[in-house]
Amino acid sequence: VAAPGREALRQRQADQGAQDAEARGAHEPFRSHAPRVGDDTQAQPEAGSYAWTKQWYPVCVVAHTDPKKPHHIQVLGKDLVFWCDGQKQWRAFEDKCPHRLAPLSEGRVEEDGTLLCAYHGWRFDGDGQCTAMPQVMGDANEEARMCKSARACARAYPTAEHHGLLWVWAESGADAFLESMTLNPPRLSEEYLELERARGGDSDGASGSGRGGGGDTEYKVNEWMQRDLPYGWDSFFENAIDPAHACVSHHGLVGSRYTDAIPFQWASRRGASAMDGFRMALDPAPPPFNVVGNYQATCEYDFQPPVHLRFDWEHPRGYGLAILHYCTPTSPGRCRHFQATVCTKDAGGSFDEQPRWFRLNKLSFQPSWWSHIVSPTFLHQDLVLLHSQEKIVEQEDETWFGACHMPTPSDKSVIMFRRWLQRAGGLGWQLPPAARRLPPIERDPTKLFDTWNAHTKNCVPCQRALMVTQGVMLASGVGAAAAISGGDLGTGLALGANLAGFNILRDLFYKYEFSHQDNGDDLWNIFARDILLKPAEDADMKR
Ligand code: FES
Ligand SMILES: [Fe+2]
Repeated sequence: VAAPGREALRQRQADQGAQDAEARGAHEPFRSHAPRVGDDTQAQPEAGSYAWTKQWYPVCVVAHTDPKKPHHIQVLGKDLVFWCDGQKQWRAFEDKCPHRLAPLSEGRVEEDGTLLCAYHGWRFDGDGQCTAMPQVMGDANEEARMCKSARACARAYPTAEHHGLLWVWAESGADAFLESMTLNPPRLSEEYLELERARGGDSDGASGSGRGGGGDTEYKVNEWMQRDLPYGWDSFFENAIDPAHACVSHHGLVGSRYTDAIPFQWASRRGASAMDGFRMALDPAPPPFNVVGNYQATCEYDFQPPVHLRFDWEHPRGYGLAILHYCTPTSPGRCRHFQATVCTKDAGGSFDEQPRWFRLNKLSFQPSWWSHIVSPTFLHQDLVLLHSQEKIVEQEDETWFGACHMPTPSDKSVIMFRRWLQRAGGLGWQLPPAARRLPPIERDPTKLFDTWNAHTKNCVPCQRALMVTQGVMLASGVGAAAAISGGDLGTGLALGANLAGFNILRDLFYKYEFSHQDNGDDLWNIFARDILLKPAEDADMKR
């Protein structure tokens, strides 16, 4: 039973999707003739080649990225540099200098708003035009003449900012700038669009609240999380669209691996199409998605290629949760993930009532650095499995379908996704075949759970929080030593305990290990389940 406001919002999303599909129609390489309802995991678009490079890919959270430096990323295996020019516009170039191919991401953003190559000092403006070539013999006119050569330009890619994310179109050249405006729009969310409209077009991506669905639905959007993951784009979506793993892999956080793993079915909500993916519903919702009270929640997964998966969870009493996943294929065996959560409520609903740990969304206005270090626990619990899984398929020299055995209906969504990918012709790497092999399985947990490289080094709020943490540790250490040497043992011990606590916090910015073997019914899980969660869930049951 959906409240009218939510229905209106959903209708607008459907209308927007139809408009996008219409806009894409003329360029779509293959069209879906799949039925709109029922089990259509067998029904997929005609085989064809998906236009992977004629798409937008998110590359960073703008508000969390240092504009004074250039930044490297790979998109579909292509090395790119993105940076902020003198007009405060974020730009993306191929990550190589036209002179002798030094990576421009090792360069510097100079005060005149140009990007300077760190090797011989050529400079480039936001359009990629060379503006300085210090080694030119002759006067300024001669330098200007040499700079004008097309061979002296950096190769620029179209960029855009939406929802606080920087997006890059995966092709360069004159046609790319035209096509990026006319072909496939970025995969956006209605809630962020509403928020941006309310803010007069501001898309800083910060947490906020607003109204949608004709004004009847209130929502809260939290801050973006960004993380580089040591497994591939396809493993990410296979995992994120698979609810059967939730109570097992995330034992203690969202359910019990012993009592909550049960059979369930799927129903189609939007048949598969090459350009617009598909939408499926849990039928009915299994644990942990039905744990708040004795009801049938609506749980739907909407895959919108090439980067978006939207999870919609809705309670019949008028509140819900949407998890917005975005994932960019960076290199074989690696991807960059972005996530934001939207809490919604209609009249009578409450933001507080969410399934299990999603109740913490009511704290969504916590500092971004804090959510960045604690929230990815989910990712780490799956990471250790997904990192190996995809390499095993490759080592066995098998197809994914040949290597996996999936006799139960719970895997239908995963099969649907893999069929979509198969029909799309596989991921469109911009790499020679020999460079597409996956890296070896990493057995060293300090590398697998390396939070510094996965996140902190790219996140300004986390770097600031780390600096403050280190400052507090230094002050605590000095204070403890002074107190103890002055004979004040109590103060010394208190400051020592403070130092130890902040040491744990500091470590989380560098690494965050997780082991399923150690995740049993320990004190923390018992406390979380029986003290923190169960009373609230019992109260819901009685309502
Ligand atoms: S390689 Fe960039 S200036 Fe020489
Ligand atoms: Fe962060």
